[in-house]
Amino acid sequence: MKQILIIHGPNLNQLGTREPDIYGAKTLTEINEDLSNHAKSLNLQLTFFQSNIEGELVDCIQGTNCDGIIINPAAYTHTSIAIRDAIAGKQLPVIEVHLSNVYQRESFRHHSHVAPVCIGQITGFGATSYLLALSGMADHLNR
Ligand code: DQA
Repeated sequence: MKQILIIHGPNLNQLGTREPDIYGAKTLTEINEDLSNHAKSLNLQLTFFQSNIEGELVDCIQGTNCDGIIINPAAYTHTSIAIRDAIAGKQLPVIEVHLSNVYQRESFRHHSHVAPVCIGQITGFGATSYLLALSGMADHLNR
């Protein structure tokens, strides 16, 4: 069974109470549960990681031996060359996810350092963004 690593960046541990009008009412635990259920139907095995610390996210990417990564780098999307370089060094399919539509928001959210080293980006579908990314990853790995 293929192993997919789900990485959540800073402040996503606060989902449910954090700006619910922008990010929705689901908690991170609920999002991960939905992902686990969807993974069963796609015959994928998931592991989860969340950190508010850039270097821990880099260490997690460096250390994985999974088959693909789905990452919401959150604010580090727009600032982190270190996360981009960690992904570039791995030669793994990676999909970038956002709950909100970052292109409808402040201009500092319009640039992603991570997107150029990902196979795709899904933004704006709320918690469903993660499920769409998992379907996309399954399709990519089955090609
Ligand atoms: C986010 C969008 C980012 O701009 C923001 O910093 C986040 C969450 C999203 O999922 O919509 O923390 O990645």
